[in-house]
Amino acid sequence: MNTKILSDTTEDIATAAEIIAAGGLVAFPTETVYGLGADALNAEAVGKVYAAKGRPSDNPMIVHISSKDDLLKLTSAVTPDMEKLMEAFWPGPMTMIVPRLPVIPDTTTGGLSTVGVRMPDHPVALSLISGSGCPIAAPSANLSGKPSPTTAKDVVEDLDGRVDAVIESTDCRVGIESTVIDMTSDTPVILRPGILTAEDFEKVLGKTVELDPALNQRPDPFNNCDFKPKAPGMKYKHYAPKAPMVVFEGEEQAVRRAIAEEAASYTAAGKKVCTICFDSGQQRTAAHRFFAMLREADRDGADIILASALPEEGIGFSVMNRMLKSAGYNIRKV
Ligand code: TXA
Ligand code: MG
Repeated sequence: MNTKILSDTTEDIATAAEIIAAGGLVAFPTETVYGLGADALNAEAVGKVYAAKGRPSDNPMIVHISSKDDLLKLTSAVTPDMEKLMEAFWPGPMTMIVPRLPVIPDTTTGGLSTVGVRMPDHPVALSLISGSGCPIAAPSANLSGKPSPTTAKDVVEDLDGRVDAVIESTDCRVGIESTVIDMTSDTPVILRPGILTAEDFEKVLGKTVELDPALNQRPDPFNNCDFKPKAPGMKYKHYAPKAPMVVFEGEEQAVRRAIAEEAASYTAAGKKVCTICFDSGQQRTAAHRFFAMLREADRDGADIILASALPEEGIGFSVMNRMLKSAGYNIRKV
């Protein structure tokens, strides 16, 4: 397949919208990461997304809309809590899991009775969705298992020849995927952490928001049969760079020293080392840069990646969720 490289002009977005409406696949920017989009109501088109990514078909897609009213076309009941969250956080990096209407094919939801819906905060994404005239199902636009793409270059590297078009646009502002919050029971539950945190939701809802207990588990990478996260996508091997990766945990200065020593010994042995060390106060920067740095390490031909853990609170918790998966839970305590 010949992949069209499109720009983010009105004309090119219109071309991309025609491709989606005709059942094709288009990778497009959002504020979180790049998405790989297809008409969410067209089972055949959505099937092609799974194939292009090499994604297991029981892993449901997020359905992207361009106006809050569109939620009503996808779910039977919009509760007062959902209204509050939409008002506060859409457009933005929040996906709500809601009961689905039959109009959404099983292929889109991996056969679940619920659907994840999000209104992205990116002008290109919004005009692509409204121009297509349909909601757009879109997972992150990476090959399954690889780090999520935050630049057009990342997307082209993974998907050139596998999709109809890629819209090249600016780098993604947030850098990690949306927070997924399950709104199907009275107490909302976060299934995937993001830059919007439980505290952000609690402030708006005036009630407790829980975390899926699987988010606090560190599965044994060789025997993860007890690990049953509620978002199917959270159970797969994820975000893996080519090089092996070690996450150093402990007091900040001690971690820095340990990484510097280890890096020096790898370098002395002729190995190419990539280090990922964010200041503990720079959580947004960490979210923005983390996947991009994994991709840079791959491009530079790194032999080993040494990363320092962030404090697991607020956005730091969300970045650590990705970092530990990228490293296959290969943790060094110092
Ligand atoms: O920021 C994002 O959310 C990006 C951009 C493109 O919008 N999309 C994204 O999609 O990250 P994806 O497919 O890579 O991740 C979707 C996650 C998976 O963990 C999936 O299992 C979960 O959301 N999910 C989707 N629908 C669900 C449902 N009905 N119930 C539970 N989990 C669901
Ligand atoms: Mg993904």
